[in-house]
Amino acid sequence: MKNEKTDGARRDSEFPHLISALQSPLPHNSSFILSPAMNRLRDMTSNIIFIGFMGCGKSSIGRRVAHRLGHQFLDSDELIAARAEMSISDIFSLEGEAGFRLRETAELKTLAGSSNIVLATGGGAILNPVNRDLFHQLGLVIWLHAEPDTLFERASRNRKRPLLEVENPRSTFFSLLESRIPLYGGMADLKIDATGLSHEQTVEKIIQQIALLENNGS
Ligand code: S3P
Repeated sequence: MKNEKTDGARRDSEFPHLISALQSPLPHNSSFILSPAMNRLRDMTSNIIFIGFMGCGKSSIGRRVAHRLGHQFLDSDELIAARAEMSISDIFSLEGEAGFRLRETAELKTLAGSSNIVLATGGGAILNPVNRDLFHQLGLVIWLHAEPDTLFERASRNRKRPLLEVENPRSTFFSLLESRIPLYGGMADLKIDATGLSHEQTVEKIIQQIALLENNGS
């Protein structure tokens, strides 16, 4: 039987480019990104949208951040599954990824105009430019990430992720991650590295960053 931990640690070095891509700063400089983010915080509502790859903790962290801010927490996968009356895995089996993506965009569109929400999005929601525009219109976009092996270990804990139900989930996972990093980085207002942090510590870091943005804006 494979030792996941040793395996994970050894394989980490196979993906040094992913680690450095995840650690690099957002492509826009901070004074540039702070101003549109602050304007959205001030002039619109205070919605928070979590983006990031499978296993980064968008739902667990998002739920806690919502609680701290007194916002409503929404999880786009949960909304999609509830409306479809099917699990995400069943949607993928019956309608394929294309069907799921249509449902995802339709669901996200229903959130336009919301206020005081914290939204956890599916890892692939950033693929569609329509969704990306929606997120920007909604509020502050936070990219939650962690080192690749942690993401993989967390994402493979349960069988709720149809994209990983393949022959070689590990390489699929890393190549998807690689292709999406530029999309997350290209649209995020804030990038939060949760590597080595507990959920509570990550939430604290996020709350502090939001407070910083709000104080800089006043
Ligand atoms: C997906 C991520 C999943 C879910 C679906 C597709 C993706 O959400 O939306 O399985 O394309 O990365 P999580 O990021 O919450 O696992």
